[in-house]
Amino acid sequence: MPPQKQQLEALIACAAKAPAAEAIRLDPFQLIAFEHALQERLCDLLEAIADALPNQVLLDAADAAATTLRTYFPAHLKLENDILFPALTAPCRADRSVREAIALARSEHDADEASALELAEALANRDEEGRYREAEALGYLLRSFFEQQRRHIAWEETVVFPMARSCFSAASKADLAAALLRHRMRCECLPLVSLLAPQKKPCNGNCADCEEKPASAIA
Ligand SMILES: [Fe+2]
Ligand SMILES: [Fe+2]
Repeated sequence: MPPQKQQLEALIACAAKAPAAEAIRLDPFQLIAFEHALQERLCDLLEAIADALPNQVLLDAADAAATTLRTYFPAHLKLENDILFPALTAPCRADRSVREAIALARSEHDADEASALELAEALANRDEEGRYREAEALGYLLRSFFEQQRRHIAWEETVVFPMARSCFSAASKADLAAALLRHRMRCECLPLVSLLAPQKKPCNGNCADCEEKPASAIA
């Protein structure tokens, strides 16, 4: 099986292993760890696509990667920016290292979101025969994106979140779990549903379905 197919299957298999509500209540960071595992599988897929340039890229792999970059990826950044970081800010207010790490993560997110959209455009930009005319530029974009993401995830997992956990009380942990569950309920129309069930329309977390989902629907 071509490496791109293997990595696409690994991404879809990973997406099916989302933690249950009970696991998130026990440890809210499990949801973030799950999303990071998905990002790592996305990086592996992007690397396999880069290795297949210029002429061996599988169109379904490129399309799935572009969809993931346009939908799931910004949704993860939004989850961290809008829910996780504000939840960490209050209990960790006294910890200057956590505050600085969060500020740095936010600024990296801004640049990463723009890069993800640029990369998604480049992956979709094929000629009539499905080939990439700017293969060298696409290879550069792919490699810089997955290298930056692997570094960012490793930094969050090994530096930022362990620091944040250390100043987290049981009450703030419960608040974070509740906020994450509300977010997940609102956005179940999104993350990788577009890959798992292609008939569902992908959204960016702000679609009509998200708006209509009542907060009372939380598990
Ligand atoms: Fe992040
Ligand atoms: Fe992250």
